[in-house]
Amino acid sequence: MKRRGTITGWGKCVPPVKLTNADLEQLVDTSDEWITERTGIQERGISHVEVTDLAEVAALRALAAAGLAVDDIDLIVVATVTPEISCPSQACTLQERLGAWNAGAFDLNAACSGFVYGSSTASSMIEAGVADRVLLVGAEKLHFVMDYWDRATSILFGDGAGAVVMEASTAGDGVLAHDLGADGGQGKTMVFPTLGTRGEILRERDPWTDRLHFEGPNVFKIAVRGMEGSVRRALERAEISPEEVNLVVPHQANARIIDAATRRLGVPPENVMVNIANHGNSAAASIPMALSDALEQGRIAEGDIVVQTAFGGGVTWGSTVMRWGERTTPVGKADIELPPTDLTVFDILAENRQFFAPYHADG
Ligand SMILES: CC(C)(COP(=O)(O)OP(=O)(O)OC[C@H]1O[C@@H](n2cnc3c(N)ncnc32)[C@H](O)[C@@H]1OP(=O)(O)O)[C@@H](O)C(=O)NCCC(=O)NCCS
Repeated sequence: MKRRGTITGWGKCVPPVKLTNADLEQLVDTSDEWITERTGIQERGISHVEVTDLAEVAALRALAAAGLAVDDIDLIVVATVTPEISCPSQACTLQERLGAWNAGAFDLNAACSGFVYGSSTASSMIEAGVADRVLLVGAEKLHFVMDYWDRATSILFGDGAGAVVMEASTAGDGVLAHDLGADGGQGKTMVFPTLGTRGEILRERDPWTDRLHFEGPNVFKIAVRGMEGSVRRALERAEISPEEVNLVVPHQANARIIDAATRRLGVPPENVMVNIANHGNSAAASIPMALSDALEQGRIAEGDIVVQTAFGGGVTWGSTVMRWGERTTPVGKADIELPPTDLTVFDILAENRQFFAPYHADG
């Protein structure tokens, strides 16, 4: 049978410090009721460590679940829109941390669609015989680019990491079909200009520019239509109908977006993985974290049709359709945790509040 990329290991890393809706009530003019009703989010992780630390924990957990050692990996792909620095890439920094010396490594930026783009890339490289065992990570420290005086954006996003190991299989399982798309013309609906080279070399970071610019309701519409259309195209290519889908694992941006998109597809809520309440929108990390939770909850069985779908900045969208392989319980467990911290969420966000305060003082 055709050689395909199939998921054999998974893991996630959730920061221990949470920003709850009650905390947000102290920072901006909002309410637990408004946030819960409009987004489904109750708390989000705010990382006290760097992206590499989050990625390392998720990666080692995924490797242990796959029963593999770091030396077995021949490619590391990190999907992120918040790399620590641009060069070396986040993937190379992670490779060094893991000591995965047999692996090539590169980053992939498709914002919140990053993990789906990564799944498509990794499985295609496996199909082509370029790689046999890929470590695919989604890792984000989004709080770095948020403005915690802005109620429109600060309520939505959280930090975290998720990872999968994808291996070659000829047993009929693995990624069956993909759909990737983008519309750069709509890119202005979601922009954060913080981590790039645009502008003068002497330019200082300033709160007027270096924040997420965002047209929430427009993004909402693009997201619902984008995910629905993308899943339909990917399913058509796989010659699978929406009724045959056992689980949709969507990007966790807003519970109402997930509900609207999957309702339009005719997929019942019990076949949709939603874990946004505890993580918020963690961009490229959201799908692998949701996938890990789905497996931990026993929601995926061998042979299941599992669909990943996402939309995000760029704007970008994408979906993959896969038939799940035999691995549904982890082979092993990694003995690794993030370093503990005594910091409160207000401690971690203190510098952010200080940085953006002038923007809000001047209206
Ligand atoms: C941002 C988002 C939650 C806003 O929800 P919405 O239902 O579209 O709400 P609106 O922006 O229309 O605002 C409705 C009202 O609530 C108010 N409001 C906005 N944010 C609020 C908050 N955090 N708390 C309380 N009220 C708020 C608005 O000011 C507006 O008030 P008005 O009616 O008096 O003008 C929603 O548009 C969304 O999730 N968009 C997609 C964003 C996203 O996920 N982007 C990342 C993609 S990867």
